[in-house]
Amino acid sequence: QTLKIGLIPADGIGKEVIPAARAAIIALGSDIPKPEFIDLVAGWECFTRTGVALPEDTVQILKDECDCALFGSVSSPSRKVVGYSSPIVALRKKLDLYANIRPVVSVAPEAGQKPSVDLIVVRENTECLYVKEETLTSGANGKEARATRLITEHASRRIGQMAFELANSRPRKHLTIIHKSNVLSITDGLFRETVRAVPSLPGIDGKYDGVTIAEQLVDSAVYRLFREPEIFDVMVAPNLYGDILSDAAAALVGSLGLIPSINAGDNFVMGEPVHGSAPDIEGKGIANPLASIRSAALMLRHLGYTKGADRLDIAVDQVIREAKFLTPDLKGTSTTSEVLEAVLRKL
Ligand code: NAI
Ligand code: MG
Repeated sequence: QTLKIGLIPADGIGKEVIPAARAAIIALGSDIPKPEFIDLVAGWECFTRTGVALPEDTVQILKDECDCALFGSVSSPSRKVVGYSSPIVALRKKLDLYANIRPVVSVAPEAGQKPSVDLIVVRENTECLYVKEETLTSGANGKEARATRLITEHASRRIGQMAFELANSRPRKHLTIIHKSNVLSITDGLFRETVRAVPSLPGIDGKYDGVTIAEQLVDSAVYRLFREPEIFDVMVAPNLYGDILSDAAAALVGSLGLIPSINAGDNFVMGEPVHGSAPDIEGKGIANPLASIRSAALMLRHLGYTKGADRLDIAVDQVIREAKFLTPDLKGTSTTSEVLEAVLRKL
């Protein structure tokens, strides 16, 4: 039995951290089926070379041959480039990876991580402003730019179900719905009401009775996240709010370079560090590989390979706690490969 893993390092530090995740997976030996890696391309560099950011081949091989995948990061430009569209946003849609699950956990308060952070941001991954329907017209006020924000009952319901399921599986069983319904009463209102209605869906039969539900407007949610992160367990949010909240939460534990995620659908899972391509440190060999290694762990856990996932998480936690081999984002002086070596020794 083999485990076929598509690897899409894409751009920038993605090329430095995905190989580290690969090495950590190999080190698991017989705790997982024999891994078989398939190298795939996508990204800005791919676009500048070939004119396509997400080759059809990449999507097809993921669909037809891979059991799961790991994605690095893309360098999407901040200006409009004709023909270019972010491949990660497209992949989430094409593979219907509707949930982006982002755990943020403090494992070493003594190393400056804010204590008692143990939360998961569950981000809707297919709609909201990320449908990217933007128009530019001219009017009485000069140029007028508009964007569509799509919220559907279907997508809100399935992300709500995922969030309730996760909350129910955790000791605290607490779910906070993030929205801005006081201003956006129709779009965020639909999200809020649909998620709230999940426990009374047919077939649920009281399964979520033990889950306590709270809600928080997105702006004050960021405020409370910094003041009292311990009040949050599982947070469920529309796409854009979830994106912003999870980067903010990363600051509580010291670095974006520690935060993993999975993009999950009913048929496929793709691990992905939450961070971007980090142009400011790319090529220097100092990118933190721990977010990618943890993303591999989350991916394996999602597939049911609990033992392998546990081993990766424990090794990463030990390296953070020892604080001997850390990259500069965590105030260390080690390189990417020295941190990887430290993880491999723990494994
Ligand atoms: P970023 O996440 O790339 O970097 C933000 C800051 O965190 C930088 O100072 C960076 O050096 C640091 N950082 C991030 N990951 C790190 C790691 N593993 N180790 C050490 N330090 C780390 O976000 P930014 O600068 O806003 O975006 C840069 C590019 O990345 C943009 O082109 C953006 O479009 C892209 N991006 C791609 C994402 C993806 O592929 N899913 C997600 C977010 C941004
Ligand atoms: Mg982001």
